[in-house]
Amino acid sequence: MSAIAVLGCLFGDEAKAKVVDVLASDADIIVRFQGGSNAGHTIQFDNKRFVMHLIPSGIFHEDKKCALGSAVVIDPEQLEKEISALKEQGIIFKDRFFIDYRASIVLPMHKILDEKQEELSGDKKIGTTKRGIGPCYSDSISRIGLRMSDLNNIDNIIYKLSYLCKYHHIKMDEEEIKENAESLFSFGKRMDEYLINLPYFLDSCRKQDKEILFEGAQGTLLDIYFGTYPYVTSSHTISGGISIATGYPPKHIDLLIGVFKSYFTRVGSGPFPTELHDNLGEQIRRQGNEFGSTTGRPRRCGWFDAVAAKYSVMINGIDNVALTLLDVLSGIEEIKICIAYSIDGEIVEEFPSDQRVLEEVEPVYISMDTWSDDITQCKTWESLPLNAQLYVRKIEELLEIPVSIISVGPNRDQTIFLMKQE
Ligand code: IMO
Ligand code: MG
Repeated sequence: MSAIAVLGCLFGDEAKAKVVDVLASDADIIVRFQGGSNAGHTIQFDNKRFVMHLIPSGIFHEDKKCALGSAVVIDPEQLEKEISALKEQGIIFKDRFFIDYRASIVLPMHKILDEKQEELSGDKKIGTTKRGIGPCYSDSISRIGLRMSDLNNIDNIIYKLSYLCKYHHIKMDEEEIKENAESLFSFGKRMDEYLINLPYFLDSCRKQDKEILFEGAQGTLLDIYFGTYPYVTSSHTISGGISIATGYPPKHIDLLIGVFKSYFTRVGSGPFPTELHDNLGEQIRRQGNEFGSTTGRPRRCGWFDAVAAKYSVMINGIDNVALTLLDVLSGIEEIKICIAYSIDGEIVEEFPSDQRVLEEVEPVYISMDTWSDDITQCKTWESLPLNAQLYVRKIEELLEIPVSIISVGPNRDQTIFLMKQE
């Protein structure tokens, strides 16, 4: 196996980082391919908990290399904060952490613009993480953004910053622009040892039979084109995005693992057909500690939506499922799965392309038998309560692909493997 991808298949926060961390032990290089510090990737082991926004989740495996792809948008301050916090923990970066020259820079003005855009949207605001993600990607697509490779020349930085200020009507005098440029220039110098031409690096890894693990951020339902637009993020979160983001050819990606939560959550605005507005939703939020790791916002919680999940399997070509947070459903008195939508009395199984239609659908549910046992110490399939097994089997049946990994807690050893990944 030369390349595996781990992709969030819902609205983000599927516990992708835990799955990446667990699978990283068999990989040689872990590549975070898109998104920026809007992501909050939590890893827990040896009674320690780390939340990373930019650094790939494989970083704790000392013998592995980690890279940030071309489509990652880098907030300099956040990246350096993460690097120094990890270095303090004894994590080595030299010769094992890389950034593609092409990665874009998130500027302070992008955060201002993000905020402004939200303010203008009134009650239609997206509920972004305010990390400047959308404006940074917009500048990149408009061909006016700054990339890591721009940072080795102060005149170039000054020219680009001045252009962006004019373009976005941001008031900055010459002195401020110069100061900002100098700070970016020195950031570039500090990062210089990590910069590589990523496609060549990945190509040589492949030719040496090294295993590459692509780590997604956000989730399919937040994809810029295939998510619930405009309530989406601004990057390509789907499997097709891997090649766009790294220059690694699609035909060399061998296995696509989709990470699905055992229930659904969403942060920010946008349609969520199976959202629970009652005590059960509250109980799931409490049991799952469903509060954003980037913004601290309470996550909206709801039932597993097989219509949306099947759409995600289709869009990505998912081979098998990592089903996470199954333990959170223990003790929930009633469990439902949405198997279709009713639109004006008509039953549909297609995920609508228009979010306004999605706002109006009525979920059609089946009820599942519940279980009350604590499953956080279960290490094998056989040790799971029968009704938890039946829940997993139902998801396999609905998605028409196997579940290969079940996560029953945040720690590495709270993982049940049903199939070896090879
Ligand atoms: P991880 O990688 C959950 C959501 C925001 C908002 C929308 C757009 O931890 O799964 P943005 O700041 O990207 O312009 O916000 O996308 N969002 C996420 N939700 N997990 C994430 O990342 C997210 N990244 C962005 O809440 O609704
Ligand atoms: Mg998150």
